[in-house]
Amino acid sequence: MAAFEQRVFSGVQPTGNLHLGNYLGAIQKFVDLQDAYDCMYCVVDMHAITVWQNPLELKNNIREVTAAYLAAGIDAKKHIVFNQSRVPQHAELAWVFNCVARMGWLNRMTQFKEKAGKDRENASVGLFAYPALMAADILVYRGTHVPVGDDQKQHLELSRDIAQKFNNDFSESIAGNGHEDGFFPLPEPLITGPATRVMSLRDGSKKMSKSDPSDLSRIKLSDDADQIATKIRKARTDPEPLPSEKKGLEGRREAENLVGIYAALAGTSAEAVLSEFGGGQFSTFKQALADLCIDKLAPITAEMRKLQADPGHIDSVLANGGDRAEVLARKTMDAVKDIVGFIR
Ligand code: AMP
Ligand code: TRP
Repeated sequence: MAAFEQRVFSGVQPTGNLHLGNYLGAIQKFVDLQDAYDCMYCVVDMHAITVWQNPLELKNNIREVTAAYLAAGIDAKKHIVFNQSRVPQHAELAWVFNCVARMGWLNRMTQFKEKAGKDRENASVGLFAYPALMAADILVYRGTHVPVGDDQKQHLELSRDIAQKFNNDFSESIAGNGHEDGFFPLPEPLITGPATRVMSLRDGSKKMSKSDPSDLSRIKLSDDADQIATKIRKARTDPEPLPSEKKGLEGRREAENLVGIYAALAGTSAEAVLSEFGGGQFSTFKQALADLCIDKLAPITAEMRKLQADPGHIDSVLANGGDRAEVLARKTMDAVKDIVGFIR
């Protein structure tokens, strides 16, 4: 598989309450990848409506995620920042992929099971088909690298399965179209570092999430310094002091989580954090963690506020990104139509 140009693609849903897990698991990595790759960062509004969204809030939430991208340091001139629904080829390719993916594959998706809960009969068809749209997001640009948090691993595997099956099912037609190595690349997940799965501050067995009813469970990108300090002070821990080595964190999920957060914010490893704080009291570590967290997030939060005060500017960034994305998407979709046997 040599012939594919490298391209990073990732997305965040505009469903409100952006938090430290989104930042460390995804957005901070998006920023870091900009020097080495051509990147596309999408606000996936079509994914958001797989569960009910209030239309007025949705618009604000799309602008909030865009502001977070820009405030964190994504360069929307050099790279492409846009919202998914502007580029109709996402939906077009998703339909083709709905016909490639198998019911059995989608039936195994744990996120669907979690989100649909007990009342599966009442979940939207979109929620079930969601991973085929996600595959289309990446592959409509023939994306090769996808930075995400650990919870998206299974969806990425499904994207690879869809790309592979499309390449196999249509192999003759693809060769006739002049693509010798298959039409779609198999996109690689980039899930690395100490904070690929940030856990709730109230319960180390649950991941930090936008929808947790407890606001104390998450640090939001909109929190001010006092709120961050309070949430870290109140974060659940155990009575033992911090260990000096990573092995000592086994079975201590809350402690492990806070050490991972510190390491990711400081750009270092859990080992390095423990060699500094091991043996000390939690209260000392928590104070240092709160200071670091405020230090890193305050400038981003301030810039987000500034950007959100000018929605016209945000909307123009999205429009510009959408136009540039569509040029690329149309090229892929034209080829897909030829390969599948549509007349255009
Ligand atoms: P979502 O808010 O579900 O659209 O997620 C956006 C990105 O943030 C995805 O790459 C997720 O994997 C990542 N993410 C969400 N929650 C967490 C978490 N608790 N820890 C690490 N990454 C996360
Ligand atoms: N499903 C991802 C999430 O919930 C968001 C997403 C949609 C995405 N399309 C994508 C992530 C394409 C990476 C690539 O977090």
